[in-house]
Amino acid sequence: MKILLTGATGYIGSAVTEHLAAAGHQVVALTRGAEPRPGRAWHAQVVGDTTDPASLAGAVGPDIEGVIHLAPPSGDADVDTAVVEALAAPLRGTGRPFVYTSGVWVLGATGGAREVGEDAPTDPIGIVGYRPLIERRVLAEAAEGVRAVVVRPAVVYGRGGGIPAILVDRARGQGVPEYYGEEGVRWPTVHVDDLAGLFVAAVERAGAGTVWHGVGEPAVPVRELARAAGRAAGVLAAPHAVPVEQAAEVFGPLFAEALALDQSVSGAAARTVLGWQPERPGAVAELTAGSYRPVEVFGAPEGAGTDAEVAAIRRLVAEVEHAQQNELVDGFLAVFRREDPVWTTGHGKRLSGFEEIAAFTRKVLPGATAGSTAVYDVERVLFLRPDVAAVNVRQQPVGPDGGRLADRPEGRPFYVLVKEDGVWRVGAAQNTVVVG
Ligand SMILES: NC(=O)c1ccc[n+]([C@@H]2O[C@H](COP(=O)([O-])OP(=O)(O)OC[C@H]3O[C@@H](n4cnc5c(N)ncnc54)[C@H](OP(=O)(O)O)[C@@H]3O)[C@@H](O)[C@H]2O)c1
Repeated sequence: MKILLTGATGYIGSAVTEHLAAAGHQVVALTRGAEPRPGRAWHAQVVGDTTDPASLAGAVGPDIEGVIHLAPPSGDADVDTAVVEALAAPLRGTGRPFVYTSGVWVLGATGGAREVGEDAPTDPIGIVGYRPLIERRVLAEAAEGVRAVVVRPAVVYGRGGGIPAILVDRARGQGVPEYYGEEGVRWPTVHVDDLAGLFVAAVERAGAGTVWHGVGEPAVPVRELARAAGRAAGVLAAPHAVPVEQAAEVFGPLFAEALALDQSVSGAAARTVLGWQPERPGAVAELTAGSYRPVEVFGAPEGAGTDAEVAAIRRLVAEVEHAQQNELVDGFLAVFRREDPVWTTGHGKRLSGFEEIAAFTRKVLPGATAGSTAVYDVERVLFLRPDVAAVNVRQQPVGPDGGRLADRPEGRPFYVLVKEDGVWRVGAAQNTVVVG
């Protein structure tokens, strides 16, 4: 399909562009300026400004087979209604799709344990007070022969961006991770690449007059997101609750209200009806060991292939951390290669072969985390060969609340990893305690 995409340069629009192109569609990007943007998977570029509906006349020509409207609304109901009119009217009577981007904040505070579906009534918070009106305006186009669809994304994360990046910046700036409002606040979340997949599914096959929640995880405790954001910022401290009034001084009252909003929202319908399959790591995992904390990489070309290998290596190191923190002997041993692994501990004890490592682990791991454990961050990956990597890790001792234990030394684990049968495992490991 040839698809007009507004907001194509933005956070979500960049991912949607890539996923549309990968699915074989042609993206016609509507941009505010005419300057070319090299490197984008756009078929063509047209100029228009969504604060000036007249500038959109002609953007949806007869060759446009669908529209995805991602550019944010102006907040002026008349202007935003005129924008929908300008983009949807040329599609009337064609059955072609018009996908409008709203957001889960139109549902307001959902409260309780139940996940709220698309059939729930809207109860928008202030920052999106205008949006249900535009949603209704869009859905009314179904009666005019337009395949009108509304997608409501959750809080979007991934690719180091979105609102979670604000949590990371704040943790770095304040020296302590922050969350806003009550301790129990939960956000529905979605990975930007999973969300892009939903836009592709919606434009290809969502029925006329339908609404879809773009939700990967229905209710992530924001306190846990904040803790993970601290990790990404290199700040190991227990998260600190900031009252909404105080947050309003930093973010303004409307955004502060949104950050403190407690929601539990279901994205099940898109999975069962559209066959949408969100498969990226969850928001906490992504913040802890994903795109929010870049790793230095050597010996491999930049690109998606290397990114995927580095992500797999980080997952392996996250497994080491998880097994260590939870005293999981089998989990810890699973990270080692079976054939002749060697491990030299931080105290200089060399263990040769899987059996020796297993015996030592069974002896020392149970009970090892009483009072203290450790976090592991991959800092540097050198690909010696595509299937052999030398990995530098930073190991910091933390207490039960996740705070850094200042009186304990750090470690500098070094792993030689080998990829066999598609799986990275530790072939050799050495830890060095940092002295002084
Ligand atoms: N991010 C989230 O967590 C989230 C969650 C739910 C819903 N949403 C909604 O999803 C949509 C996209 O969000 P995003 O996070 O991708 O935003 P973003 O990164 O700020 O991108 C906004 C995009 O819209 C374009 N744009 C802005 N004003 C425009 C105008 N007057 N005319 C034409 N284009 C204009 C921008 O183009 P330029 O390059 O010219 O600036 C950019 O491509 C928004 O409607 C947002 O409310 C986002």
